[in-house]
Amino acid sequence: MLNAGMIGLGAWGRKLVESVQGRSAEIRIVAGCTRTASRAASFAAAHGITLHPGVAELVADPAVEAVISTGPAGLHAEHTLAAIEAGKPVLAVKPLALSGSDAARLAAAAERRQVLLALGYNRYFYPNAAELRRRVRAGEVGELLHAEGDFCTDRFHTLPPDHWALEDAHLLAGALADHPLYSMIELLGRVRSVDARAGSRGTGRAIIDTTAVLLRFESGVSGLLTAAGATAPYERLTYFGSLGWVETRGRTLSYRYRSGEEETAALPELDAERAQLECFAAAVRGRATFPVPVEDAVHGVAVLEAIDRSARTDRPIEPS
Ligand SMILES: NC(=O)c1ccc[n+]([C@@H]2O[C@H](COP(=O)([O-])OP(=O)(O)OC[C@H]3O[C@@H](n4cnc5c(N)ncnc54)[C@H](OP(=O)(O)O)[C@@H]3O)[C@@H](O)[C@H]2O)c1
Repeated sequence: MLNAGMIGLGAWGRKLVESVQGRSAEIRIVAGCTRTASRAASFAAAHGITLHPGVAELVADPAVEAVISTGPAGLHAEHTLAAIEAGKPVLAVKPLALSGSDAARLAAAAERRQVLLALGYNRYFYPNAAELRRRVRAGEVGELLHAEGDFCTDRFHTLPPDHWALEDAHLLAGALADHPLYSMIELLGRVRSVDARAGSRGTGRAIIDTTAVLLRFESGVSGLLTAAGATAPYERLTYFGSLGWVETRGRTLSYRYRSGEEETAALPELDAERAQLECFAAAVRGRATFPVPVEDAVHGVAVLEAIDRSARTDRPIEPS
């Protein structure tokens, strides 16, 4: 059993806690810290979580063997670095940081301290994502030609006006579509350039709520991403190849091959959040390798930063 501490006990942190507490034999959350303790006190008490006054106290707690960093996006780098510098392995929920240079600093610190730095994104563990990955890697769609990913959600209409996620300091244009981006980096390799267009027509608020991105991978393959935060939920990821295509939509998987073979299937449900946390625990214990290489996680942030710059300037940008 791995005893973990959690930085940030908001919506996502609580979902992660509820996925394992009293349910997992691999990992449990024993301590936490947040900004407004009064908001988290009853949740922490109900789940047997000791609340610390701040990040420094949490990462110094000898009962905390590993840390889950799930505070506001603009603080991820600072929080994750504090855990690494305390010598604790970290599951850092996406995005790892808001700049490529901060992400690279985290990776360098983790290397220096010889601790695991794992990027947390639950969709990696969805059964349909695993099946899509298997089919692409097995060459079933042939030579990869192009990929498309959409992540659309009703986020910006529903957040209270003072929520951190509506502040520029935490918001990278296009970052809502980071799940498909991470998959594309995994299966297509590094991104050479991005060309993004931003829209702010969805909410009446002065925020970029819609971003469309054209990608060019170093391999020459092309890609498209759509991140729309002010519409109804819609999620799709498609890989097109010389033999056909394979696609996930929400939790389903479809494929159609030039041979005529085709199918749409709903795969069995799986608690992806728990799978992610148990995989992290196994990696901390040295029983498994965490499946997302840290260099892919760092490159993902560099691409997100480039998308943000491109969306704000209407120019193609090469990730640094
Ligand atoms: N699929 C995924 O992997 C996934 C899905 C959703 C979200 N996320 C990520 O999870 C993160 C949290 O999102 P959320 O929706 O849970 O946001 P949220 O509900 O606003 O929660 C953020 C939490 O961090 C706390 N916090 C704020 N400032 C802090 C500080 N200085 N030190 C410690 N804690 C602090 C907040 O406390 P207060 O109560 O005072 O606000 C709150 O408990 C985001 O970065 C997001 O990108 C990942």
